Amino acid sequence: MDANLEAILYLVSGVLFIVGIRSLSSPETARTGNLLSMLGMAIAIIVTIIGLGDITDPLTMGMIAGGILLGGGIGAVVALRVPMTDMPQVVGILNSFGGIAAVLVSVAAVLSPADFNILDATTNALFLGSSIETSLGVIIGAITFSGSIIAAGKLQGLISGSPIVFKGQHPLNALMAISAVVLVCMFVITGDATWFWAVTALAFLMGITLIIPIGGADMPVVIAILNSYSGFAGAIVGFTLGNTALIITGALVGSSGAILSYIMCKAMNRSFFSVMLGGFGGEVAAGADGVEETRPVKRGNADDAAFILKSAGSLIIVPGYGMAVAQAQHAIRELTDELTERGVSVKFAIHPVAGRMPGHMNVLLAEANVSYDDVYELEDINSEFAQTDVVLVIGANDVTNPSAKTDTSSPIYGMPVLDVENAGTVLFIKRSLASGYAGVNNPLFFEDNTMMLFSDAKKMVEDIVKAL
Ligand code: TAP
Repeated sequence: MDANLEAILYLVSGVLFIVGIRSLSSPETARTGNLLSMLGMAIAIIVTIIGLGDITDPLTMGMIAGGILLGGGIGAVVALRVPMTDMPQVVGILNSFGGIAAVLVSVAAVLSPADFNILDATTNALFLGSSIETSLGVIIGAITFSGSIIAAGKLQGLISGSPIVFKGQHPLNALMAISAVVLVCMFVITGDATWFWAVTALAFLMGITLIIPIGGADMPVVIAILNSYSGFAGAIVGFTLGNTALIITGALVGSSGAILSYIMCKAMNRSFFSVMLGGFGGEVAAGADGVEETRPVKRGNADDAAFILKSAGSLIIVPGYGMAVAQAQHAIRELTDELTERGVSVKFAIHPVAGRMPGHMNVLLAEANVSYDDVYELEDINSEFAQTDVVLVIGANDVTNPSAKTDTSSPIYGMPVLDVENAGTVLFIKRSLASGYAGVNNPLFFEDNTMMLFSDAKKMVEDIVKAL
């Protein structure tokens, strides 16, 4: 293929990726964004295959087609079968593929540099820049691979979600990081591949020791950070392969992953360094604060809730992780329609880390055709709770916990929360008094203006609709 045409087509795919990511910022344009990105990726793949130059060779083409069919087939089956709540660990596994791909390309480049046009004929060694690129590709790729496997294993419950900490862990990580730098320097200076193999093995180990001390509570942030690493590893490998599309895509994934990690850290009031240094967040919801709650709460049933809701003028619904577990979004939509017809103003308040992944609640509400105009972000709606008659919290907990504002000893202290307690009445739908993801008690359950509706979220919302 003509080099200019190739460059133009790569540029087109790069632009499609950028417009695609931009479109993901609103649920209204997100589907189009996905399609544009898929188109960009299809163009990049086709141009790269044609660029290989041996499209008439049946063996090469057969292997590529076989790889696409096998990988694409497995990916499609997994994507169709996995529940939405398990999506973070799937993303973790996908990141590990990006990491191992970077490792394999770097290893291939070191094994046969002439095929990658990175062999300096005068010295019969890799070009200086190429030996640095391959080293960085292998380090970031290997850390991403083993780290992502550990992160996905923790989220899936295959490895303990508790932080696995041991004495001397930070000095050990520091020692390994320094050793990696020394090994890379030795490889670059001497050109001896033994140093390269040593740093490859060390980087796989570093991925494990870096992620194993981080607790389950921080794992989704870690997944986003590893996603960013996999992007940067891809970009570096793009230089080795001389592939512009890979450099652009890798840089986009790397920077968007980094921005996402930053946003998640901010929304959870965790600093990037405190996440990476580990040791926070044990097994999920193992008895609120470890302290058994004995205080009485005001309990209600669907009839009580229906009575309160139909006499309300305004209602704000706060969905959380429990809505996703119960798949209550369609029932909630019915409830919204029913109440709107009766003249109740209904709005939705979405906390940035409600659920288990960014945009989790927005996706579910969009699936149930809840109007985007009724869905508000925390900063846009927080001041409205004080003028609202009723708040209906459906399967949310941490994102409403006022101790984030008052209790300096709370692990969620400083996290911005929805000020639901300012409303006239607060109705909580959840199955018990159990804590949420952060494993802390929610004092709101015991307030005078709170009524607990103990049930599965979908069942309770359906019962309220019936009662109405
Ligand atoms: P959580 O605080 O985790 O609370 C969810 C509540 O849902 C639980 O207390 C549970 O109580 C209830 N629940 C579970 N299944 C239910 C069902 N079938 N029906 C009714 N209720 C059910 O959720 P949240 O308020 O959405 O907060 C999210 C938490 O996840 C935050 O701590 C956040 O930092 C963390 N997190 C979020 C993200 C992102 S990006 N979204 C990433 C990492 C961490 P019962 O067991 O009593 O029913």
